[in-house]
Formats: sequence, C-alpha cells, structure tokens
Amino acid sequence: MRKSLTQFLVEQQRLENAMPAQLRLLIEVVARACKVIGHTINKGAITGLLGSMNRENIQGEVQKQLDVISNDILLEANEWGGHLAALASEEMEAIHPIPYRLPKGEYLLVYDPIDGSSNIDVNGVVGTIFSVLKAPENASGRDVTEADFLQPGSRQVAAGYAIYGPQTLLVLSVGTGVYAFSLDREMGSWVQTAERMTIPPSTREFAISMANQRFWNPGVASYIGDLVAGKDGPRGADFNMRWMGSMVGDVHRVLTRGGVFLYPSDSRANMRSGKLRLMYEANPIAFLVEQAGGLATDGGARRIMDIVPDGLHQRVGMVLGSADEVSKVIEYQKPAQALAAP
Ligand code: AHG
Ligand code: MN
Ligand code: MN
Repeated sequence: MRKSLTQFLVEQQRLENAMPAQLRLLIEVVARACKVIGHTINKGAITGLLGSMNRENIQGEVQKQLDVISNDILLEANEWGGHLAALASEEMEAIHPIPYRLPKGEYLLVYDPIDGSSNIDVNGVVGTIFSVLKAPENASGRDVTEADFLQPGSRQVAAGYAIYGPQTLLVLSVGTGVYAFSLDREMGSWVQTAERMTIPPSTREFAISMANQRFWNPGVASYIGDLVAGKDGPRGADFNMRWMGSMVGDVHRVLTRGGVFLYPSDSRANMRSGKLRLMYEANPIAFLVEQAGGLATDGGARRIMDIVPDGLHQRVGMVLGSADEVSKVIEYQKPAQALAAP
C-alpha cells in the first residue's frame, strides 16, 4: 500500500524530528482545504463559479470568483485549529489574526489561493501556493502585526503547492527534501508518489514570457537571445520553450524534469520590482527549488530567500531552476567589463 500524507508526516515527526504536532496539523489542514479547492475547480461551469468578481484585489488585478472562494476556503479551514497566530494572502490587503474567540498557535501561514487564475476559465493548470513561518517568540502575549510576517524566506519551516491539472498533486517540503502526493479521488486521500524530487543541474528548456521581450534588461535579453540562437549560437545547442501562465505549472515541470524559469523585473513602470510576490509566491517556491537542489535568485546574484521583506505584498524579479542555467543568467547580468576582468 502506498504511503498516505498522514503517514509521511508522522514518520517525519519521528525520524527527522522535523515536525512539531502543530505543524503537522497545519499541513494536514492546508492539504484538506486544497482538496476542496481542487474539487471546486474541477466542477468548472457546473457550479456557476467561473469568471470574474468585477472588482480588484490589493495588487490591482481583477479577482476571479475562484480567487475569492479559495481564499475563504483556506481561511475557514485554518482558523479554528489552534495552530496559527495569523494568516496573510494575496487576496487580502491586511493580515488576518486568529480571532480572540479561537485558540491561537505559533505559526504564520501565507498563501496564494489560486496561482495562474487567468487559466481557470480556459481549463488550464492552476495551483495553490503556501508558506509557513513561525511567529516571533515575543508575539505570544500580544496581537500579531504585519511586521511579524516580514521574515526572510530562509526562516520558512515548510512550504508547498497544490497543482490542479490532469492530476491533482501536493508538493511539499518541511526542510527534508521535496515530496509529492497524488490525490486519489475515490479514496479521498493524498498518497505519496514521489520522494526527494531533484532538479537536474543542466537543462535545454526555458520558460519566459516572450511578450515582454522589449522591456527586458540587456542581460536577460542577451541570455535569451543566445538560447533562441540554438545550435548556431554561442551555446551550441537547441533549447525548447514552455510558458504556462501559471508559475506553479512551470515550476512543477522544472521540479519534474529540470528547466529554467524567468519572470525578471523589467522596464515597465509596474514591473520595475518584478511581478511575482515575494512572500507567497517567490519564497515558498524558492524553498522547494533549493530543497530539490536548484537555485532561486532575484534575476541577479541575490538569493530570493535572503531578502528581508519590507511589505506583505512586495514584488520581486525571479529566476529559478536548474543550477547551471540560473548561474549563467547571473553571469549575463554582470557588466561586460566585469566579465572580461581576469
Ligand atoms: P496570480 O494568478 O496569482 O496573479 O499569478 C500569476 C503569475 C504567475 O503564476 C505566472 O507565472 C505569471 O503571473 C503569468 O504572468 P503573465 O500573465 O505576465 O504571463
Ligand atoms: Mn500567483
Ligand atoms: Mn493568485
């Protein structure tokens, strides 16, 4: 019999001592909420929940009905368990402290309820991304504030995503490697189907939105130019390209067979600091990528997980995936003189 998520978590707790009971509960609750979100997405138009809310979130993006519903599913599932001090999400402007009437725990949960939500209505791949931090020690006797969340990604104690595609999967790390669990719909349970996922260091596949080419900085432009030049260019090899419009989808491919994914900052006024959100997109994905042996940087040499956030909804440029290619991107970003220096 395959291992269930519960069995995996109990083993982690026993073998690696990586998981206090509260964290185990937290992950089980998030995983259960993802089942509900996956089920709702899977029903599609039958529920009448496709399409937009006709209102914008804090990011200035039009919310889909499923963005809002999935946000509430995660909120309601996690509020009562006693494992959290507060939550924060892409779809909520401010943090959500656990109400006084409910028991409070020691963890902070940050999430993107639906990543790639423009894919919902076209039956494309979407996901849920989550990151778990510990509330600062001194937060126990007082109200949790946004400042308590502003910890670098290196302090994450767990991170993961659910991906709602042809299969529904949960990909998870508690700091002891990356594991994947498939949703067995008939049984209603998550069963482990991959362990110690690793990203091969070299790759011939890249992911970037070519629509933004004219806004790229010279380093990104010449790196991609050299990939596209293929066998006849300086890299002497053909590269394939994929872009799913959902970071979870692209990252899952990278975790499965390698690749490099780029959403760099660019010259557009609203993209100078990148598009992806540091706390609930970049950090959890960086945690998984590094746990799988890959690299995740801001497009230059700065490690994503070293950045100290200055706001909940801060954005960041991102380059991640196979170590050799991420290192190459960093080299291309160095000024010409630096490259020429002995
Ligand atoms: P979200 O749906 O949570 O707003 O995130 C979408 C993100 C990311 O998942 C994806 O890689 C990227 O936006 C796609 O951006 P473009 O529409 O610019 O291609
Ligand atoms: Mn997203
Ligand atoms: Mn989203």
